[in-house]
Amino acid sequence: MCGIYGIIGKCKNIDKVAINALYELEYRGYDSSGIAFLNTNKEIKVIKSTGKIENLEKNINNHEVSTECLIAHTRWATHGKISTSNAHPHTSENVAIVHNGIITNYEELKNKLNSYKFYGECDSEVIAKLMDYNLQRSKTALEAFCKTIKELKGSYAIECIVKGEYNTIFIARKESPIYVCKYKDTVIASSDLITFPKQTSTYFEVSENQICELKKSKIKFFDLELNEIKGTSKKYDINENKVSLNNYSHFMLKEIFDIPKALNDTMKKLESSDKLNIDLSRFEKVHFIACGTAYHSACVGAFMVQSLCGIDAQSHIASEWIDSPTLCNKNHLFVMISQSGETFDTILALKKAKQNGCICLSITNTSYSTLANLSDYVLPIVAGKEVAVASTKVYNACNLACLYLANKIKAERQNLELNLNDIKIDYNEITKLLNAEFEKEFANTLINYKTIFFLGKCEDYITAMEASLKLKEITYINSSAYPSGELKHGTLALVDNETLIIAYLTNANYTDKMISALSEVKARGGKVLLLSNQTLPKALVDYSIKLSSGNSSINMLLYSIIPMQKLAYYTAIKLNKNPDKPRNLAKSVTVA
Ligand code: M6R
Repeated sequence: MCGIYGIIGKCKNIDKVAINALYELEYRGYDSSGIAFLNTNKEIKVIKSTGKIENLEKNINNHEVSTECLIAHTRWATHGKISTSNAHPHTSENVAIVHNGIITNYEELKNKLNSYKFYGECDSEVIAKLMDYNLQRSKTALEAFCKTIKELKGSYAIECIVKGEYNTIFIARKESPIYVCKYKDTVIASSDLITFPKQTSTYFEVSENQICELKKSKIKFFDLELNEIKGTSKKYDINENKVSLNNYSHFMLKEIFDIPKALNDTMKKLESSDKLNIDLSRFEKVHFIACGTAYHSACVGAFMVQSLCGIDAQSHIASEWIDSPTLCNKNHLFVMISQSGETFDTILALKKAKQNGCICLSITNTSYSTLANLSDYVLPIVAGKEVAVASTKVYNACNLACLYLANKIKAERQNLELNLNDIKIDYNEITKLLNAEFEKEFANTLINYKTIFFLGKCEDYITAMEASLKLKEITYINSSAYPSGELKHGTLALVDNETLIIAYLTNANYTDKMISALSEVKARGGKVLLLSNQTLPKALVDYSIKLSSGNSSINMLLYSIIPMQKLAYYTAIKLNKNPDKPRNLAKSVTVA
């Protein structure tokens, strides 16, 4: 993971511009950060700090940053602990680099470079040393950079500055994104378009097997034989991605309250993409693949397709599916789900499906992402930028896209036109759930439990899994989700009067079985919070959240998670944890 940024040219307060960009990239990792620049004496200067970007900002304030050429980085640690020496930029005598990705042959390269002294444990350091080594064996820095890139294995987006090359940043990428734009007297490179000035509307995507050379007001592209080639520019409305907290205390809370808008905007977009030019009736099976919260949407998608279309559908965790025996053929449709569109495991799954000749459709919130670019078809989510690490509104919007897709498959199989009226969004119920005060209060109770289990059956089990993930990732309270009928097969051993069970019941077909499961819990002294559109015997329920009875359990998958998103948020606040930036996590996981 990690975020990288580079800027070259005349720019007032260049260090502040870079820091602001790092704040925008902080969602990619926030273990440590740093900048490197070429000063007026043509020397490389480096400033690094551990912890949040604000630590770097304070550190930079104690230095003079006089330059027209600067690279910057925010890190999510993979190789090597969180420390200043492992923070980027990494250096050798004549070079500084920033890197996003993983160099898989770094041990081998380190052996080759045994005349260099390595100061840290980070795989990226080898890039700086290798570039230095190649500089001494090349006519130009460009040639040295190209040699370096050819020797690297793994995934990377790299920016490199070289002592003496006062006005140049070298860039290359493989499997990690990097974009470039021109703005006034500057040229900028970044892991995400979000950092580009809002006045820009055109950017270049650096392709794999290309070298990009940024000079003052000039962007040049070369192939790996160093022939100059033409870059491809793309249009983009950067403003779409600029977000602010408004009056909310955290992005997570704001994003939960964005859910109605995310659903509404996504629905409008889906309506206009009704011409999805793909024969959906011919597929015998649909595979949904994703990671984390997006995987729970994948489960929702598979459940909806099976329930509504009566064809086989399966959900897979991307990191598992890529290493599992491949059981698919050209008559299977693959649906990849990803908020960022940059999740490495999901991209690998897409590549595997394509290698097997399968059609891939992606559901993503990031229209310019790698996943979207590699997919045969895209079903867009318009949830707006999601900043908090814990995914909320995008989950609801992805579930809506799944519902749309399932209805579309159903209609085409029956040779009918899709009737969008079949997709109902109950905004009244959503508003009621958003405005309820219960979760804020209940957070005071929840923090007293050390063991929490979420229960549900079929579609409710999916919501239970997502609820448990939300609670874990931002409160660090251990919880697990179980199908309600599975508890008695082992986990019941853990239930006692210090256990809280949070149970979902939205389908009347499962009432009797839920009553049995909760009776088993109550007999062991467990406490129960029930989220349901039904009323169960009082003796089984200690606390309850009422869900509306007017919707099908399938439609409820668009919003029944809301109370648990809120409960996770308020519990994190109660425990004094930052819900937007949970420890050890990053928003976009671009490594395998
Ligand atoms: O960007 P993606 O949707 O592909 O991300 C997948 C997961 O990494 C992500 O959903 C993660 O589980 C979130 N932290 C969940 O809140």
